[in-house]
Amino acid sequence: MNILITGASRGLGLNHTKILSKSNKNKIIITDISEQASDAFSSKDRLNLKHILSKKNVSIIYGDLNKKGDVNNLFDKIKTIFKNKIDCIICNAGGDIPGNNNNAFGNKPKQNDYMISTEEFDQIFKRNFNTSMNILKKIIPIMKKNKYGKIVTISSINALSDLSNEFAYSISKKSIIHYTKILARDLKKYNIQVNCICPGPTLTTRFIHTLKQRKKDEKNIIKKKKGFDRVAKPDDISNIVKFVISKEAEIFTGQILVADYGFSIGR
Ligand SMILES: NC(=O)c1ccc[n+]([C@@H]2O[C@H](COP(=O)([O-])OP(=O)(O)OC[C@H]3O[C@@H](n4cnc5c(N)ncnc54)[C@H](O)[C@@H]3O)[C@@H](O)[C@H]2O)c1
Repeated sequence: MNILITGASRGLGLNHTKILSKSNKNKIIITDISEQASDAFSSKDRLNLKHILSKKNVSIIYGDLNKKGDVNNLFDKIKTIFKNKIDCIICNAGGDIPGNNNNAFGNKPKQNDYMISTEEFDQIFKRNFNTSMNILKKIIPIMKKNKYGKIVTISSINALSDLSNEFAYSISKKSIIHYTKILARDLKKYNIQVNCICPGPTLTTRFIHTLKQRKKDEKNIIKKKKGFDRVAKPDDISNIVKFVISKEAEIFTGQILVADYGFSIGR
């Protein structure tokens, strides 16, 4: 399967690549905003990226998914490498930080509720919604032509509750859920499957970085190692991604899979 994974030089996207590249049947292109993005939070991501890129079935292309020229350029390269056969896309690029720097690095806004600055709101929304929409507008026509495709969008459990301190992030991730449902309905007749995964807290380097800025009870969740209400490991989420694009999951479309060790229940 030819698979495209966005925002994948670090964190969850890189981990999905690690898991999916184990099968030689998969050819994977990963994209990210810049070469610097990989070690923005930790040099471990850069080391893992180097190892993964040494595999024959993985390549990387850089570009900002919120810049029209970059998206066009990425798309031209993807079409050439995949020879117009794009079977699957995992729209992973995102994150709960604003900032337009080319490391895609930042801290949470000081005012993170409904009084957030419009500029920061726009940055967070674009990072979490437009990055998926901009690339999907390019990829969907190819999948339609091929009458085959698997699209995985990435939301968050923050889309499912009315947390007031993640205003822009939760609204953008809720939009991803709505977008998934619309796409699933419209693309069913083209044999294109569209599903969404909502991870709960997951131990990526960005998560660890932003944890320092969170409330004490949020910091405590990281200590729990067994049972429910614990933080996921990246492999927990990547294995769900692997399942959603597998033959065994062909029965699903338009579904929202919440992978969160029960975090969103009763909140
Ligand atoms: N880690 C968690 O706890 C958690 C929980 C729920 C949802 N998620 C979601 O999972 C995804 C990955 O999260 P992560 O923790 O690995 O974060 P991360 O910040 O490490 O990864 C996000 C990636 O998106 C890229 N990106 C950002 N803006 C971009 C742009 N304009 N163009 C191209 N690439 C861009 C970044 O460079 C980065 O590689 C995000 O969509 C995030 O919202 C994460």
